[in-house]
Order: sequence, then C-alpha cells, then structure tokens
Amino acid sequence: MTAPLYYADYLRLDTLLDTQHLESARHGTPVHDEMLFIVVHQAYELWFKQVIWELDSILELFSKPTLDERDTRTVINRLRRIAEIQTILIDQVAVLETMTPLDFLDFRDYLFPASGFQSAQFRIVENKLGLRRSDRLKLAGAVYTERFSDEDRSAVETVEQEPSLFELVEGWLERTPFLDQGDFDFWSSYREAVHRRIAADREVVRANPLLTETEREAQLEDFESVIRQYEAIFDSERHRLEVDSGRLRMSHRAFQAALFITLYRDEPALQEPFHLLELLMDIDEGFTTWRYRHAQMALRMIGRRIGTGGSAGAKYLERSAERSRIFGDLYNLSTFLVPRADRPELPESIVESMRFRYQG
Ligand code: HEM
Repeated sequence: MTAPLYYADYLRLDTLLDTQHLESARHGTPVHDEMLFIVVHQAYELWFKQVIWELDSILELFSKPTLDERDTRTVINRLRRIAEIQTILIDQVAVLETMTPLDFLDFRDYLFPASGFQSAQFRIVENKLGLRRSDRLKLAGAVYTERFSDEDRSAVETVEQEPSLFELVEGWLERTPFLDQGDFDFWSSYREAVHRRIAADREVVRANPLLTETEREAQLEDFESVIRQYEAIFDSERHRLEVDSGRLRMSHRAFQAALFITLYRDEPALQEPFHLLELLMDIDEGFTTWRYRHAQMALRMIGRRIGTGGSAGAKYLERSAERSRIFGDLYNLSTFLVPRADRPELPESIVESMRFRYQG
C-alpha cells in the first residue's frame, strides 16, 4: 500500500517555496520589496507555463487534417481559459505597483542585465500564437534571441519553426465549406450587396439639403476611398499586394471564410466557429492590454530611464505593444460588414446544410 498523499509533497512546496532568493540580501542589504518583485515574476512564469500547456493541446487538435466538431468545444474551452488567465496577468500588475519607484531603486542596480525581455516562456507563448521574427523590435541592435542562454535560445527557436496557432487557424478557415457550394459564389453576391449599400449611402449624401456643395463633394470623395478599400478585399490579386506590403496577413480565402462566419454567425453550424474567432481576438487584445499595462507600470517605476535589459525602457515597450498584434485581420473584418438586412440571402441548400438536426 502506498503512503497517503500529503499536500506539501504533492505540490513540491519544499522546492517551490525555497526559490525566492533576494539579490539585495546576497549583497548584504536586504530590501523588503524584493520578495514581492520575485514572487510576482514567478507567479507570471507559472501562469505562462499553464498557457503553454493549453496552447500545446489546442495546436495538437488544430493540427489534425480536420478539426472534429467535438474538439471545437474543447478548443473553445481552453482558449477561454487562456483569456481568463490573461485577466489575472493584467490585474497582477497592480500588486507590483504597490512597490514605489523609490523602493525599486533600492535593489534595481543588482538586477542588470537581467530583464523580463529574457523570459523564454513569454517568447514561446508569442511564437506559438504566431508572432513572427519580422514583427519584433530589436533591442539595442540585437535580435530577441541573442539575450538568451543557449538552452533557452534553442527552445524558443524550435517553437519558431513549428506551425503557429495563426497558421493553423488560417488553414482551418481556408477549409471552411459553404463558400462556393454548387452555383453559389458568396464573394460576388456579397460584393453586390456592398455596392448596393454604398450606392444607397451615396444617395443620402447627394439628397441632404443641409450640406454645402463643398461638404457634399468631400463626403462623396470619402465614398470613393471606401470603395477602393473594399475592392482590395474582393480582388485576390490586390489582397496579395496588401499581404506583401504587411498591411494584411491572412490569406484571401481564409479572410473570406472569416467574413462569412462573422456575417452568418447565427446559423447553427457557424456559432462555434464564430465563438472561436472572438476568443482569438480576446486573447490578442488581452496580450496587447497586458503590454500597455506593463509599459505604463515601467514608465511609473523607471520614468524615461533605460531598461535593465538595455532597451529604451517604456518607449520600447509602447512600440512593442503596437507591433505585437497577431490576429489583426480579424479586427479588420468589422470594416467590411453590412447590416443583417443587406446580407446576400443564402441558397436553401446551404442553409439546410448548416442546421443541426437530430438524425434519430
Ligand atoms: C518593476 C517592474 C518592472 C519593470 C520596471 C519592467 C521594465 C521592463 C522594461 C524596461 C523592459 C524592456 C526591456 C529592457 O530593457 O529590460 C521590459 C520587458 C519585459 N518585461 Fe518587464 N518590467 C517589470 C516587471 C515585469 C514583470 C512582473 C513581468 C512578468 C513576467 C515582466 C515581463 C517582461 C517581458 C515579457 C518583457 C519583454 C516585452 C517585449 O519585448 O515586448 N516585466 N520590462
């Protein structure tokens, strides 16, 4: 018979609670707040571990040739878990902010050149989600992997080579059925709906007695630019140019599918895919929010000083937050939506195939 499990043994508390070693104490001047600084960072790393755990399982399910409908629910639950963890990651910043900048200065000098910039797990999360090397800022001229130990560099670079969530979601969207079944070509039907809408809006401007001629002309000119924007989305060649220029990332086909799912999200078969797309945006937004929150905290703690890792400090962090969006194409979708009443009517055969029905 095995011995009854004991709480502290199960959680390896001996080890876990013996890993908070103050640098300030090692230098002979223990600083009270350094304990908080260490515990908060360690708590982040534990949560990053959990996020990687969830992401790995999600990536595995997405890597199958088709995402089984039963697995879609699991993916949604795990994405939601990540989004919930992010709320803790964001809130935790406030706990660290109870340490004042003056308290931080009492031990900050001991930390150089270590920095959160070297968090391998954070980089692994970014890479698994789909942040590309080309999206990243250099730090004092160095690429992000240069500041790692050999072991961490190798772990982070290995993940860079693996399919990311962005790529797997893109492939999943590209495989979406319904877009061109039989005679129905969603894209040209939608294009007509958009044009009808723009023409109606244009009429409202033309007929508005309150506008001066100059205002009217300016507003009509705005319509032309909206039309040009739409055309780029309808035309796969123009879309490719947008991707090449870096303004868009997702393939034309995947973008079409995401738009279709968003427009017809009330159809039973599209409800879960829509939920999944929303969660991807929640997670993207969660990381962006964390980055800005962390940048604000850094500004408050160190002002315009350089970071311990050698970056331009808060300025670097703000720029990094601007560039780190992964699912930016999904946010773009809202530009191209039309009201429900203007959506092309789907052929009955497609509506039928999107229904859930008990086959008893
Ligand atoms: C007093 C608190 C903190 C300050 C003043 C601070 C400051 C900074 C600065 C200035 C950078 C830019 C790189 C550098 O030059 O070092 C940075 C990067 C980073 N820090 Fe912090 N940080 C703090 C707490 C934290 C915490 C609690 C975490 C949680 C893990 C964290 C995670 C990161 C990450 C992941 C980066 C890389 C961000 C990127 O490259 O976009 N930091 N931090």
